[in-house]
Amino acid sequence: MSELSRDEVSNRLLKGSVKRSYIPVVDIDWEAPLDEDKFFVAPKTLSLYGTDLWLRMDRRQRIELSRQEFVNMLSTAIWFENIVNQGLLRHVMHTDPRSSETHYSLTELGDETRHMVMFGKAIKRVGAKPVRVPLAQRVVLNMIPLFLRGSGLWLFALLGEDITDELQRQMAEDPEIQPLVQRVLRVHIIEEARHISFARDGIRKRVAAMPRWRRVVLANVLGLHGIVNQQAFTNPVVYRRIGLPDPKAAQRAAMANENFRLVQRRCFAGMAEFFEEVGLMGRLSKAIWKKIGYLD
Ligand SMILES: [Fe+2]
Ligand SMILES: [Fe+2]
Repeated sequence: MSELSRDEVSNRLLKGSVKRSYIPVVDIDWEAPLDEDKFFVAPKTLSLYGTDLWLRMDRRQRIELSRQEFVNMLSTAIWFENIVNQGLLRHVMHTDPRSSETHYSLTELGDETRHMVMFGKAIKRVGAKPVRVPLAQRVVLNMIPLFLRGSGLWLFALLGEDITDELQRQMAEDPEIQPLVQRVLRVHIIEEARHISFARDGIRKRVAAMPRWRRVVLANVLGLHGIVNQQAFTNPVVYRRIGLPDPKAAQRAAMANENFRLVQRRCFAGMAEFFEEVGLMGRLSKAIWKKIGYLD
């Protein structure tokens, strides 16, 4: 795809969007009953799977853990997509309104808007409270789009989208998962695949034309995302909600959980390969990713 111009790539993605896009408000049956005996997240991918805490839980508690982890994922996805959308809208202020790149950026923005509605409806449907970020952190998150320009915007988008892609694909086919969750994931997988292509193409083209110092700086700050990700996906709020007496200890158990680290390693593999390919695998980032278990 990278031999094509940015506009040619955007054109392809625009055609794909015309052929296959969803309106989750009407395309998903929100009234369909939930199956009380099914999981909301694949059990093997849960943060505590296989730990002593997990072994002491009965099936009902395990399903409740999956419900809370699912809601935590969706809540995180909502603030992440909010930042991407703010970044996209600021980006197109500077681009040619006739270009296909502008048109696809706006199409992606529309997809993410519908995803946020879909995630909000899914949280409501599964009957759990969203996991809110504290006000001070929300203020910081809301400032990120001010700094997302050029390759930074595509990298930010890719870091969130690519790592969840593999996980969503595994879960969408798992027979132990709630049918409603599977439908939400299938819609998301299809539309995100185009966003991932768009972000990867943008990164390839910009990195190739970038001064070396800028590439080195970018390659070494990318790892910070791993720390945020690890904190977000082992959020003690989840463990408190399922009634564990020491949520901080549960977070430590999740961070040290070899099963969970393996799941994350698998999810990160495609992105690690891509960063190696385009020259964005910095030493500092690599050290962080190794420490949190994203890399061997
Ligand atoms: Fe999305
Ligand atoms: Fe996306």
